[in-house]
Amino acid sequence: MIAARAFDFDSWRMQARALLNAEVSPEDALWGDEQTALFGGTPSTQPEQARAVRVPASFLSKAEQACQHADPERFAVLYRLLWKLAHGVGHVLEDPLDPDAARLTAMLRELSEEEHDMHAFVRFRATRAPDGSEHWVAWFNPVHSILKRVAPFFARRYPAMHWTLLTPTASASWDGTTLHFGPGAPSEAAPRPDQVDALFLSYYENIFNPARSNPKLLHRQLPPRLLRDMPEGGEVARLAKDAPKRVQDMNSPRASASAALVPNDHELGSLRSAAAHCRACPIGEHATQTVFGEGPPNARLMIVGEQPGDEEDLAGKPFVGPAGRLLEKLLERAGLTRSEIYVTNAVKHFKFERLPTKRRLHMRPVRSEVEACRAWLLAEVDSVKPDMILCLGATAAQSFCGPQFRVQRDRGKPTTTPWAPWWMATYHPSALLRASDEAARKQMERQFLDDLETTHEQLAKLTH
Ligand code: URA
Repeated sequence: MIAARAFDFDSWRMQARALLNAEVSPEDALWGDEQTALFGGTPSTQPEQARAVRVPASFLSKAEQACQHADPERFAVLYRLLWKLAHGVGHVLEDPLDPDAARLTAMLRELSEEEHDMHAFVRFRATRAPDGSEHWVAWFNPVHSILKRVAPFFARRYPAMHWTLLTPTASASWDGTTLHFGPGAPSEAAPRPDQVDALFLSYYENIFNPARSNPKLLHRQLPPRLLRDMPEGGEVARLAKDAPKRVQDMNSPRASASAALVPNDHELGSLRSAAAHCRACPIGEHATQTVFGEGPPNARLMIVGEQPGDEEDLAGKPFVGPAGRLLEKLLERAGLTRSEIYVTNAVKHFKFERLPTKRRLHMRPVRSEVEACRAWLLAEVDSVKPDMILCLGATAAQSFCGPQFRVQRDRGKPTTTPWAPWWMATYHPSALLRASDEAARKQMERQFLDDLETTHEQLAKLTH
């Protein structure tokens, strides 16, 4: 019996080649990994003495993946397959009755399922690096050693963020240009739940689709082991309980009326034409026209306001009145250019009350009106696919995240969402115009500018 020890694809390949060269049959090879210390010996054949063995490239690539699997038998399974390939059983990988080929297929499937779990369930939390810059950290406990396989996905998804993904045995970090791999860390090294979690929970609640809630399926796809480490873990049971009531709300005639009008192609021109006839809520009856969003159809940044005001209603364009003029001035001060931004509103009609003086007094849209318009907003987001969304004021932010969102508490905190990898909310410029006194106005303006500067810095990172 010859002992061989491997811990990854390269070490397995070297050992397997040596065993094969020495004509050691699989029954005579005792494979162990780094955890099975009793396997001290290694075959004595040096790699340069090994004869070349031709195997299909697809086998090598599958073997490389299978070495990431946690099955302690993986190296033995691969060696048996290699032996069969080298001894003339060329079709072994396609043989449905071969137990090793079946085991290899199962391992590859399990790896790809866990890869999918990590894409879906890794949650980054914001932390401060020692130099004060923002650093996002996530902790995940994968069953298999797939960190190297999944890290490039997060580098593509969050190219402008600096992040570290910790697992118990290894870590991956992205500094905006390069991926680095390092040692692992225990779960205590993960940052504690923070306010970003509160914001995340609020949007999780909003995107949780009660109509598709299926507790059995949920437990199969998201086992308690994974749920425990996720911020929404504690929320899931409550959301599932409330699901029937929320299905009723979702089926409200208003929300489905606008959704039915939205053209399937989500092309901005056809969305704009279709929205012109929307009467999913009563506001449209009284407004002059639908005020649809405008800006570059592939803008990286989308700004979402509340609803058009008096001047916007007459002009048919968003943010051209007093709030729009203030916004444009402050955007410029923060280094942002309005013509490069797609600007729209959560509600597309002006809601007002006519005063005896004939002046039209702006009225805040109620929740059902915001919900009625949401299908248009989401279709715009889907069409523009912005990298960044900045919401102005509570109505816009709540349209995405639900009624728990509070501007005072949650503004200025970028988070990743299903709508854009970078999403943030700040004050509405008209809140600055309405501030109770000069000191309050100045303070709000400073905070608003801070948020616009954060937005500008992020945009600059994306464009350079
Ligand atoms: N306020 C908004 O929220 N949107 C506009 O378009 C104008 C004012």
